[in-house]
Amino acid sequence: MASSIFERHKVIERHVTLLGVLALVTVAIGGIVEIAPLFWIQSTVVKVDGVRPYTPLELAGRDVYVREGCYGCHSQMIRPFRDETERYGHYSLAAESMYDHPFQWGSERTGPDLARTGGRYSDGWHVQHLTDPQSVVPESIMPPYAFLATREIDGKSMAAHLVALRRVGVPYSDEAIKQAAADFETQATGEGDTAAFVKRYPKAQARDYDGDPKRVTEMDALIAYLQGLGNQIDFKSAEAQEQAK
Ligand code: HEC
Repeated sequence: MASSIFERHKVIERHVTLLGVLALVTVAIGGIVEIAPLFWIQSTVVKVDGVRPYTPLELAGRDVYVREGCYGCHSQMIRPFRDETERYGHYSLAAESMYDHPFQWGSERTGPDLARTGGRYSDGWHVQHLTDPQSVVPESIMPPYAFLATREIDGKSMAAHLVALRRVGVPYSDEAIKQAAADFETQATGEGDTAAFVKRYPKAQARDYDGDPKRVTEMDALIAYLQGLGNQIDFKSAEAQEQAK
């Protein structure tokens, strides 16, 4: 009996095409079982209150962050371990990077994780640190980025940027796209229609970031981005609500 099964299996083993086809079918079944359910669930990311798309200025700062390769030394993902949450704060949620294209989780931590760096330091500290890291942290090996303060930028190209992000699912409204250049100026100077700006981007802060109110630089954009990192969700009240249940 057993030997006849082996005899029949020999048929498969001796026909490389048949073996290939049957192997493909077997692997495909495994693949379908894993992948098919994803087509029927609404989303793999649980939405969380407070998470909003980046402002035009933050987006420009994020581009500087990516261009300069800050991710090569800094991760943006706090893992759910006690040593991490005590140092950096609440562990990162998937929703917090749902509007990041591409995400900046990273895996290298030559420097600290930056997922919740927003509001931890003053703007002035960031200017000083980015200009000359060793002047505030003597043992730092972070390179200086003083030149960012000399590179002026404007928000003219930001509308196109928002349109591109909308194509991949970031919910920018027509109004947000129309106002992109104006919102960019407003956030970088604190002047203009700040009320409408904050209504579009809740909790966003509008002010001069780099200490030079006369012009808008890449330093302004990068610091606006850093100051907005990780503080969109109100974890205190989210936890309180959870406990009250
Ligand atoms: C060669 C690695 C390296 C690169 C590249 C780098 N950093 Fe750092 N960064 C560090 C190290 C190390 C520290 C910790 C010492 C210090 O504060 O300078 C640090 C600290 C920081 C801090 C303070 C974090 C905290 O919680 O104390 C911020 C903010 C920061 N970096 C932002 C940036 C930005 C923005 C860029 C890109 C423009 C960048 N870094 C590029 C290594 C790097």
